[in-house]
Amino acid sequence: MSQNIQKDSGFEPFKGIDTLATHAGYNPREHESLSCPAIPPISLSTTFYQKAPGEHFGFDYSRAGNPTRDFLEKALATLEGARFAAAFSSGLAVQSALVQQLKSGDSVICNDDVYGGTNRYFRTISSNAGIKTHFVNLATDLPGLAKCLQSDSAVRMVWIETPTNPLMKLIDVRAVSEAVKKVNKDILVVCDNTFLSPVFQRPLELGADVVMHSMTKYINGHSDVVMGCCMTNSAQLHEWLTYNQKSAGATPSPFDCWLAHRGLRTLPLRMRQHMANGLAVARHLEASRHVDRVLHPGLESHPQHQLAKRQQRGYSGMVSAYLRVDASAFVSALRLFTLAESLGGFESLAEVPSIMTHASVPPDQRAELGITDSFVRLSVGLEDIDDLLADLDQALEKAAKPATGDDGGAASDAKRRRTSKNGQ
Ligand SMILES: Cc1ncc(COP(=O)(O)O)c(C=O)c1O
Repeated sequence: MSQNIQKDSGFEPFKGIDTLATHAGYNPREHESLSCPAIPPISLSTTFYQKAPGEHFGFDYSRAGNPTRDFLEKALATLEGARFAAAFSSGLAVQSALVQQLKSGDSVICNDDVYGGTNRYFRTISSNAGIKTHFVNLATDLPGLAKCLQSDSAVRMVWIETPTNPLMKLIDVRAVSEAVKKVNKDILVVCDNTFLSPVFQRPLELGADVVMHSMTKYINGHSDVVMGCCMTNSAQLHEWLTYNQKSAGATPSPFDCWLAHRGLRTLPLRMRQHMANGLAVARHLEASRHVDRVLHPGLESHPQHQLAKRQQRGYSGMVSAYLRVDASAFVSALRLFTLAESLGGFESLAEVPSIMTHASVPPDQRAELGITDSFVRLSVGLEDIDDLLADLDQALEKAAKPATGDDGGAASDAKRRRTSKNGQ
């Protein structure tokens, strides 16, 4: 039935995606010496026996390589249709590993709207290493990209995120990759594919050199692992990434790798349900008198709806909206959606980006982008859709009422949070 949800919306799934997710990375038949366990074993050992100095059986030390991580990385490469994959201890650790290839004096072009931590990394960490970042609106301003590439010959990397977090803008990966390669084929095009997962988008097939994910989100899908990964077809780049795992050391634990591998087995199934629920929530909110504007690429009102249909194989559960009621009071009044940062788990989450995930983006950049205090981001989970819609309705009604002191403290809690310095 859920296969149809995707087909009815005009999308064709990648061929064999459910079989790939179910079996990728591990084949019990190949592990006779371990009695052929049906699921991959967890290899907790930090070190491995060598029959003579330097002569080991594939692994020597777990930071450099581990059998459980190896199974996971093979599965990730398979799902993304890539030759290689490398897992890191978080999504930001992947960004760090990729940027560490650059040198002082190099530059990066990054989409103007990206996850707040990605923005913060470029503005503070890589700038400390002498690497400059130009923030450009890559969703609508391709001439701006060309101008930037012409005026700064030190650009070595272009960083795309599509759909963007939290404004749900789309970047035309093929158009950006072609524009970049026309100027210099050695400039690396990186695409953050976290919001769609390899089930709904494969940026390597669209011209990107590298795909990265915060696996903390859809790939693991159970809100219990922080991890990142990076896929490429370039042997040279993969060599750098595995060298970086060993030498910079931001690698995930075997137990987390095992959990993430277990999570990705059900990724296609979950993504179809996220898509159905996300679209239903987006349409419902668009019809609400308490909502000013809904941002979801599956809505005809989205300015890049046609690009979504061309570039994507589906939609995730991410929905953003500008409310006509107090956003903090709304998210505080939700009962089924949990008021929390992060996204992509089986459960529905809600947040106010200006105070939470994007609090670290400078206020003037937030204002320019439109990340206002009336703006909310929802990660729609796998619950029954009627329950989700009822929860949204009751929270909108509650937030629409003037504060009378009978809101259980939601408004004052919200005010306190607005002044808090927290944020992912
Ligand atoms: C789109 C996107 N990319 C990267 C990251 C960073 O990933 P992590 O939190 O796993 O370091 C996040 C985190 O929210 C994200 O939303």
